Amino acid sequence: MQIPIVQTDVVIVGSGLAGCAAARELQKAGKEVIVLTKLHPLRSHSGAAQGGVNAALSDDDDPKLHMFDTVKGSDYLADQDAVELMCSKAPETIRWIEHMGAAFSRREDGRIAQRPFGGQSKPRACYAKDRTGLTLLQTIFEQADREGVDFWDEWYVADILYKDGKAYGVVAFNLRDSTPTIFNAKAVMFATGGYARAFKINSNAHANTGDGLSIIARHGLPLEDMEFVQFHPSGLAGSGILISEAARGEGGRLYNALGERFMEKYAPEKMELAPRDVVARAIMNEIREGRGVGPDKMAVYLDLTHLGEELIMERLPELRDLAITFLGQDMVKEPIMITVTAHYSMGGIPVDIDGHVKKNTKELVEGLYAAGECSCVSVHGANRLGANSLLEALFFGRHVGQSIAKDLDRLTLEEAKPEEAKTMLEEMEFLLTNNGTEHTASLRQELQDTMFENCGVFRTEESLKKQKKILKELKERFKNIRIDDKSKTFNTDLQEAIELGHMLDYSSFIVEGAIARKESRGAHYREDYPQRDDEHFLKHTFAYMDERGDIRLEYGDVVITQFEPQERKY
Ligand code: FUM
Repeated sequence: MQIPIVQTDVVIVGSGLAGCAAARELQKAGKEVIVLTKLHPLRSHSGAAQGGVNAALSDDDDPKLHMFDTVKGSDYLADQDAVELMCSKAPETIRWIEHMGAAFSRREDGRIAQRPFGGQSKPRACYAKDRTGLTLLQTIFEQADREGVDFWDEWYVADILYKDGKAYGVVAFNLRDSTPTIFNAKAVMFATGGYARAFKINSNAHANTGDGLSIIARHGLPLEDMEFVQFHPSGLAGSGILISEAARGEGGRLYNALGERFMEKYAPEKMELAPRDVVARAIMNEIREGRGVGPDKMAVYLDLTHLGEELIMERLPELRDLAITFLGQDMVKEPIMITVTAHYSMGGIPVDIDGHVKKNTKELVEGLYAAGECSCVSVHGANRLGANSLLEALFFGRHVGQSIAKDLDRLTLEEAKPEEAKTMLEEMEFLLTNNGTEHTASLRQELQDTMFENCGVFRTEESLKKQKKILKELKERFKNIRIDDKSKTFNTDLQEAIELGHMLDYSSFIVEGAIARKESRGAHYREDYPQRDDEHFLKHTFAYMDERGDIRLEYGDVVITQFEPQERKY
């Protein structure tokens, strides 16, 4: 088969906030850039972020306080040089996107409105009602499009071109007709988002299958801190669809089946506005001890009735609509049922502060970059504070775009050859012709159920080892897969099977990192090791997968510049 090769300066995989921001910067700098996305850019998951984007804008706030809150929220695992850069540039980032047209909600005096979010010392989340991510995504996509960025929608990237420590393109197929193409570039950037779809209850779009991480890991490159998966305290009961932290920021209260405002026990000072890891554990604890609500007692109440219809309609209209549509509960009139939902990945593709992907704890890969949720820079450490993710995606997306633009002066084009599409073509051929007895949907369901059960909010050595064994079995069964659609046109059966392969691979990284981390820190809570252990585990996990799928771990230093680790209390 003749494989077309398209050459460009930069290929960006993913078109959420980080991908669009980088693409816009590069195009403006006069570089040739192609963005490949398996969706339409405006369907990217950045658009689902509801509550806000942090910046110390108000007169009584300070980027240094934002930095401190972020480091404390991270349970001291964040790299403080990266946090400082992000927090100090946050006000400028907000002004930048606002001047490009992002319509933020306003205070009476005309300044950008900001609401409180968990773990923050000040109301710091700038918002556009409860559609902040969508507002930012529309703005940055329009601006990238206006600059002339070449978006290739509905292309599925399945491999990178990587040799001798250098990346020089990607291999993809067109979802419309399955035709393969090689995209050969001086620089490749991954902005492929998160991977909470590996968990039964999650707030993520169907597209969040961690493709970028597994593609990179299959080349023997490391993934960092994968054991830290954030469970958001408020997903709609049953489905896990996000009910923004803005609901608690605006004054929402949590109650158990006994009518107790239970956060008094867990975080007496911050109450419902403690960080997500603390609130998520409190909710799960109430449920485990039999004080849950709903038909299966797997939820708690979020009460917003005291806020009144006017405020809810002004600031939380989308949330009201979601609860009515998916639960039949109107938050204006009654408390709604919520439960914890897998939401965000703190870990990911390790990068330095300018977005260069790390080959190991000491060396960098030439020509390969990452930003946004798929990356680990690491500004969130063991637990991300709400409204820092839109900031990370926007700031680092732009910053890494600028960093690539500079590097392009020295990067050269390594010519790709058609035969380098081989791995992707063999994978497609295997899936299309392997007439086994296993089906994607049932394997994926088992993966999601067991990851939530054994590697969720609460973990133990026993549950994690059980999950390791389950993953091994699921990977074996995957070899016996059968897909029923053999066609070439929008073959979602084929796409979902490839995605499942990715989900199985990165899930092993989550589980292995969690087994080895014999402490509790941020979102990683080991019931058998309930204390944080700085002596042994104040360090980043770097995990590598070999050709047999086995994972090897090593550890890297945490960058501590201003804030020495302290006990974390709220
Ligand atoms: O709760 C939310 O609105 C989510 C925001 C975030 O994850 O940063």
